[in-house]
Amino acid sequence: MESLKTRIEALTQEINTIVPATKEELEAYRIKYLGTKGLVKEVFGGMKDVAAENKKEAGQVLNAFKQFAEAHYEKYSHLQQGGNGNSKKIDLSLPGSNVPLGTRHPLRIVENKIVEIFERLGFGVAEGPEIEDDWHNFTSLNMPEDHTARDMQDTFYVSQNPDWLLRTHTSSVQARVLEEGNLPVRVICPGRVYRNETISARAHCFFHQCEGLYIDENVSFADLKQTLYAFVTEMFGEGTKVRFRPSYFPFTEPSAEMDISCTVCGGSGCSLCKHTGWVEILGCGMVHPDLLRNFNIDPEKYTGFAFGMGVERITQIRYQVNDLRLYSQNDVRFLKQFTVKT
Ligand code: PHE
Repeated sequence: MESLKTRIEALTQEINTIVPATKEELEAYRIKYLGTKGLVKEVFGGMKDVAAENKKEAGQVLNAFKQFAEAHYEKYSHLQQGGNGNSKKIDLSLPGSNVPLGTRHPLRIVENKIVEIFERLGFGVAEGPEIEDDWHNFTSLNMPEDHTARDMQDTFYVSQNPDWLLRTHTSSVQARVLEEGNLPVRVICPGRVYRNETISARAHCFFHQCEGLYIDENVSFADLKQTLYAFVTEMFGEGTKVRFRPSYFPFTEPSAEMDISCTVCGGSGCSLCKHTGWVEILGCGMVHPDLLRNFNIDPEKYTGFAFGMGVERITQIRYQVNDLRLYSQNDVRFLKQFTVKT
């Protein structure tokens, strides 16, 4: 019995010094100790020499040793998968690492809000290509070649003859909707537009617009005012004042620009409203009869209004973002500050 114990102690010590580093070394350990002709088997054979009264204790000692030798093998069982032992054993019980939640881009939050408001007013959403031809972006909208109004929108040309360009406004989508010829039309066109401007805090070579178009029988300027007034109340809150200033756009007549009372200072004057108490938010007007004719719509029967606003501008007013470049710099510290406000 004593000699059996001594032998097991020696083997235990020996096993403790074995640190297999490869699949092959692990296998060599298995064969030497746990195999059919291995040392564990061999010490079990020593049972027959143990006196009957000690057999119970010897059995316990041997079983404990066997478990120890097997556990030592298990400890390195990850080596069976190959590799050099540097790969860690995967512990499936460990808690997972948290995937950080992203946030919506402020421009997208505001665009969604604009679209949602107009949808409630009965407008559908129309989208179109960002690379456009001259006809849809300019000519069909009453801006023929050499029209001075083209200078207002510094255009990026992709090719000349045929003229492919990056759309300068989403009015091009309205042209595509009118082309389909289904009346009445009541759509809002959100999307990215491009203009060749030097990038600064106040200008960028691309930005986002939401333009609207409503054409039906008996649509009047009063409808235009009422629709935009409803939008402003929803977007900036009850009590926001609105004013229209006469303006010029080739595709509308009469044309106007719309201001709202400054939502930051309430009219007393601040840097957002440049101390005037008013901030301009969009251009609008009654669709020019010539434009309707371009799409074979009878201006004696149908009238309509159109408007266009910059999403960056609305976002600037809503969140007081003072530098346009922030929107496209992908700085998460900036982007994470915006939550969906209703
Ligand atoms: N398309 C004009 C622009 O981009 C905005 C506008 C749309 C003005 C519709 C009037 C009517 O500046």
